[in-house]
Amino acid sequence: MDTLTRAREAINAARTVVCLTGAGVSAESGVPTFRDAQTGLWSRYDPMKLASPEGFAQDPGLVWRWYMWRLSLLRQAAPNPGHLALAHFQARRPDFVLITQNVDGLHEAAGSRDVIHLHGSLERFHCDNCQASYTPSPEEEAGNHPPTCPHCPGRIRPSVVWFGETLPQGPFETALRAAEQCDLILVVGTSGLVYPAAQLPLHAKRAGATLIEINPDPGPLSRLADLQFPKLSGEILPLLLT
Ligand code: OAD
Repeated sequence: MDTLTRAREAINAARTVVCLTGAGVSAESGVPTFRDAQTGLWSRYDPMKLASPEGFAQDPGLVWRWYMWRLSLLRQAAPNPGHLALAHFQARRPDFVLITQNVDGLHEAAGSRDVIHLHGSLERFHCDNCQASYTPSPEEEAGNHPPTCPHCPGRIRPSVVWFGETLPQGPFETALRAAEQCDLILVVGTSGLVYPAAQLPLHAKRAGATLIEINPDPGPLSRLADLQFPKLSGEILPLLLT
């Protein structure tokens, strides 16, 4: 039996299916990943300057402009066949739980509901001091500095998780429970290098779940995979989930 047939059978036989996605699932939508050697953001930019509380304190304008640039890329992006296949699958399978590390909102744009966001959202903002949420005006988005909070002297920042920060507890606990209780976990387009998100497939596997990985570039999670597709998610997910 070929890998695709085996994977489809395993998915059909599973009572509960979880999927963990990373930046790779959005690569075919033109959203850059972080760690791909040529095109990944972290090959060109220093994560500690751009994605850490210390970096924001040191140069808030640089961080603000970088996130606004990423937001502008996102606004030109549309879901690809991988996002759409996951959304269609959820319509057929009420047991399905989608967990993402992505901050791009493309799963929702494809029609996925109740997506568990482990790393926040590029489209939401809050005050770094009083935590009040905030919607920047188009002028503020185009500006060189983050807006000042209307309630306190704090600065407005994107509601994404930065290096050194803890994940939002509620979503992470829900994701952990789903991973521990599923029969099958699909791991799509993640390098598996960032914890604690990368723990989720390990927990699922330890609890007896089948692990299927889709990633053209095998990484640390590949050796745990029962089935591995070294291919693009936009090609494989529609074949696997229809
Ligand atoms: P990475 O950039 O670390 O990994 C992306 C993975 O996607 C790589 O393993 C690629 O081989 C794979 N990939 C590339 N194109 C693909 C495609 N078309 N189909 C399938 N796979 C493909 O991104 P993440 O694992 O998501 O955190 O990174 C985890 C976290 O690190 C991110 O959420 C971000 C980053 O720092 C925060 O911003 C907090």
